[in-house]
Amino acid sequence: MPESNTSTIDNLSHETRSFAPSAEFVAHAIAKPEQYEAATADRLGYWADQARKNLTWDADFTETLDWSEAPVAKWFVGGKVNAAYNALDRHVEAGLGDRVAIHFEGEPGDTRSYTYAQLTEAVKQAANAFESLGVAKGDRVAVYLPMIPEAVITMLACARIGAIHSVVFGGFSADALRSRIDDGEAKLVVTADGTFRRGKPSALKPAVDEALSTPGHTVENVLVVKRNGEDVNWTSLDKWWHEAVETASTEHTAVGHDSEHPLFVLYTSGTTGKPKGIIHTTGGYLTQASATHRDTFDLHPESDVFWCTADVGWVTGHSYVAYAPLINGATQIMYEGTPDSPHQGRWWEIVEKYGVTILYTAPTAIRTFMKWGRSIPDSYDLSSLRVLGSVGESINPEAWMWYRDVIGTNNGKNGERKEHPAPIVDTWWQTETGAHMIAPLPGVTATKPGSAQTPVPGITVDVVDEMGVSVANGEGGFLVIRDPWPGMLRGIWGDMDRYKDTYWSRFEGMYFAGDGAKRDEDGDIWLLGRVDDVMNVSGHRLSTTEIESSLVAHPYVAEAAVVGAKDETTGEAVVAFVILQIEPPEGEDVVATLRAHVGKDIGPIAKPRHILVVPELPKTRSGKIMRRLLKDVAEGREVGDATTLADNTVMTQIAESMRK
Ligand code: PRX
Repeated sequence: MPESNTSTIDNLSHETRSFAPSAEFVAHAIAKPEQYEAATADRLGYWADQARKNLTWDADFTETLDWSEAPVAKWFVGGKVNAAYNALDRHVEAGLGDRVAIHFEGEPGDTRSYTYAQLTEAVKQAANAFESLGVAKGDRVAVYLPMIPEAVITMLACARIGAIHSVVFGGFSADALRSRIDDGEAKLVVTADGTFRRGKPSALKPAVDEALSTPGHTVENVLVVKRNGEDVNWTSLDKWWHEAVETASTEHTAVGHDSEHPLFVLYTSGTTGKPKGIIHTTGGYLTQASATHRDTFDLHPESDVFWCTADVGWVTGHSYVAYAPLINGATQIMYEGTPDSPHQGRWWEIVEKYGVTILYTAPTAIRTFMKWGRSIPDSYDLSSLRVLGSVGESINPEAWMWYRDVIGTNNGKNGERKEHPAPIVDTWWQTETGAHMIAPLPGVTATKPGSAQTPVPGITVDVVDEMGVSVANGEGGFLVIRDPWPGMLRGIWGDMDRYKDTYWSRFEGMYFAGDGAKRDEDGDIWLLGRVDDVMNVSGHRLSTTEIESSLVAHPYVAEAAVVGAKDETTGEAVVAFVILQIEPPEGEDVVATLRAHVGKDIGPIAKPRHILVVPELPKTRSGKIMRRLLKDVAEGREVGDATTLADNTVMTQIAESMRK
């Protein structure tokens, strides 16, 4: 195990608290213990049942799994299915057209609700509009939108016509957007004039203009949603959404696409400078996303109000905003803004207003609320909440207990507490896995603060040592997945070799997730963070190498090393060490310039929290940067074993430059 993780293992192994579900919860729970047994006895049969139960197929599949071209899987072979029909039309046909699909809450307080019937019409219009702009099955559509209903409408319209969406998080820069447009050769870009951030309009369209300002791209049209009403620059590619989409016909027949037809590409950071376009296909992805959404959250679609706070720019917003809740016919909340605008009780106000029953968010948000103080949530009525989810990084036991005691036990503004707090489900998964892989079942599992615990039914997860051998209870190692699963990635866009090398070469015949993990004495799994050069900042994946490449591309910088330093709120914070190659001009603020440079290159989330200008970097004799030592420095620890350094005066020099 990496050294930085050893102390965590010991701290965690002492957790002895566990909370069994109440008898009442168990009595009404959707997922039953028998599901584990059924899935273990016949894994493929279990998934075939889930596929047929959760989705309406235009043509049934003839084979559940074809693994003959491993590690590229084919699930539900021969089946034909349309994601948008499953998310929308079939619910309307079943008489649920008046059920609210999305309650949208804009940051300035404007609201819009779409019933299933209305959302179906909106998606049909978008599908017609995209087709009349020349978008056909298999074409790529780049989506660069804020958290507004048009984001989901766009994704589903693409799915309906078989176009492949590539959503780029609105916080990424023009350069990052362009490289994703180029990699996927997108034909259409869907964006907005902008959004609102902390009460003020915030622009998006200028980044698209900048991204497309140099020739050589494949984009034929840019659709622009009018959201914040700010003036925008207009180019020959641009068309207003309200003119092109909202005037289109509401008639559109969905046809089934092959189960293995690509549904989307989503870029995520890897260990090199180039983000990976993770490919997901239709039948398997939708099956696992919908099954886990139902089981992990104990979803009762007729009465629950589900709220996943993730942005559609990340995989959580794909699986648990755009797809699974709608496939399952649920009512969900979509919120545009930040938790502190216009006040720090905004989320709890939304929970109270809509009677949210299931809340799915990230530990970094919970820790932020802890910092703001419990008196804020205490002054709202959160009694409707009955299941609480966590995702993105390990949730530390303190945050877990706070989530339970403060949010999950709230029974009204007057300080009344619930006798049975809402269970917490910590869900481990990745962009690559498509859907939950490790998570308790809230009506079955006695939950433990800080542990994701147990694979979901039908998934075979293991913790192995360096040699790929399963570790015993009480021991740590590497997290692997032993068998193919329906929601698994099918490859990396344009680079199948990288797919094989990244995930399937470390351990023979197993998928290597890149995470360290430990099994405790009960066999429960604890996630210990990445074991590669990937950082996790506020639940978002960032590559150390990508930020290093950005830094060294600046004319001031000769060499750079980036590490993730532990941070109380964001999990990790980006800290960069740079060696300059030129003397910057008099009065130049090098640190500010370099931070802005990374922000422009990748996006504001990648801006280093601290940049330290140093004379040398610690390297081994073979020239490898010893990030471990830099991490010690960044976290304010005594520097660890430095005996393998080529030049052992380096750390003294770094310590000196820090004191300056
Ligand atoms: O390190 C793990 C961490 O986030 C990584 C996946 O990041 P991404 O693809 O961006 O997807 C995030 C949302 C699914 C994993 O390799 N991670 C995610 N969930 C957890 C987690 N670490 C610990 N506990 C979790 N529940």
